[in-house]
Amino acid sequence: MNILAIETSCDDTSCAVITDNYKLLSLNISSQNDIHGNFGGVVPEIASRQHLRILPFIFQKTLQDAKISIKDIDGICATIGPGLVGSLLVGLMFAKGLCISNKKPFFGVNHIEGHFFASFLEEKRPDFPFIALVASGGHTALYLVKGFRNYKIIGQTRDDAAGEAFDKVAKLLGIGYPGGVAIEKFAEGVRGSINLPYPLEKEKDFSFSGLKTAVLTIVKKTDNLSDDFKKNLCASFQEKVVKILVDKTVRACKKYKVKNIVISGGVASNKLLRQEITTIAKSEDLEVFIPQKKFCTDNAAMIGVVGYYFLKNNFKTDLSVSAIPDWSF
Ligand code: KG4
Ligand code: ZN
Repeated sequence: MNILAIETSCDDTSCAVITDNYKLLSLNISSQNDIHGNFGGVVPEIASRQHLRILPFIFQKTLQDAKISIKDIDGICATIGPGLVGSLLVGLMFAKGLCISNKKPFFGVNHIEGHFFASFLEEKRPDFPFIALVASGGHTALYLVKGFRNYKIIGQTRDDAAGEAFDKVAKLLGIGYPGGVAIEKFAEGVRGSINLPYPLEKEKDFSFSGLKTAVLTIVKKTDNLSDDFKKNLCASFQEKVVKILVDKTVRACKKYKVKNIVISGGVASNKLLRQEITTIAKSEDLEVFIPQKKFCTDNAAMIGVVGYYFLKNNFKTDLSVSAIPDWSF
C-alpha cells in the first residue's frame, strides 16, 4: 500500500510517499527560508503563493523518485491544520483534486500529530505510551500519546513557542534566519555566563516571551554588542531554553509513569537539546527517540506516517472538509 502525503502548513512545500511498515519511498522538501529571511519571519501571503507555484513540481518529482505513478497510490493525505490558512488550503485543495480525478481516498492529518509520529520513520520506534515534546516555530507542547488519535495535552506554551523565541532573539541580534539555526551556530563551542530567567519554573506549561524580553533588555542596556558578547548571549539563551524543555519533559514522564520520550519539531534538531535529553534520559532510566534532523523540521514524510495508519485502517476524511488553522487536541 502506497500513500502520497502533502505538507504545506507553513513555509515548506513538501511531498512524500510512504509504503508498508511506514517505509519512506521518497521525500522532497522545498524551503522558503531564503524568501522569508528578508523579512525575519514568515509572510503568510508570500508563503501560500510560493506553495501554489512549487507544489505541482514537488509532487511530480516525489512520484518519480519513488519510481511509481499516481495509479500506484492507494490513498492521499495532507495536513489540514493547524497552520496558516492560505498555505494549508493550497495543499488541501491540491490533494482533493488528485483524490477526485484519480478516485483515491483522502485523510486529513494534524500537523502536530505528524511531528510526533516522525519518530516512526526511524528503524527504532517508540512503543505506546510515550511523552511527546513538540517544539517548533508555531507550537510548544507536551503530549501523552497512548496511540493514534489518542492524545492528551499535558502542558503548552502560554505565549511564544520555543522556535518563535529563537527566531525573535536572532532577529533582535541581527544574526540570521531561521533563528534556531543561527543561534546554534553562533553559540557553538561557547558556554553561556549570562543569567536569564526561567519562567513558570514549577508549572507544567511553558512561557518563552519573558526570556526573549530579558534578552532584549540586556541588548538595550549594552553599548558595545561585540561578537563575543552576542555569542555569550546566544549560548546563555540556548542553554536556558534547552533546560526548560528537558526539565518539563522529564517531569511529565515521572508524573505519568511513562518510560518513552519522543522529541520533535524544528527545535528538536538543536544539537544541545538532543545531547541533554539523551544524557538525562540515560540517568533517569528513560528511553528517548529523536528523529533525524530532516524529519524534525516540517516535512511530508511525518504526515504520511499518520495518513498511512488511518488509510490502512479504512478511515477516510470526507472531501467536504476545509482547512482547520487552529486545530488542537
Ligand atoms: O517544525 P518547524 O520546521 O516548523 C513549524 O512547524 O514551526 O520549526 C521551525 C522552527 C523555527 O522557529 C526555527 O528557528 C526552529 O524551528 N529551529 C531550531 C533549529 N532548527 C530550526 N531551533 C533551535 N535549534 C535549531 N537547530
Ligand atoms: Zn512543524
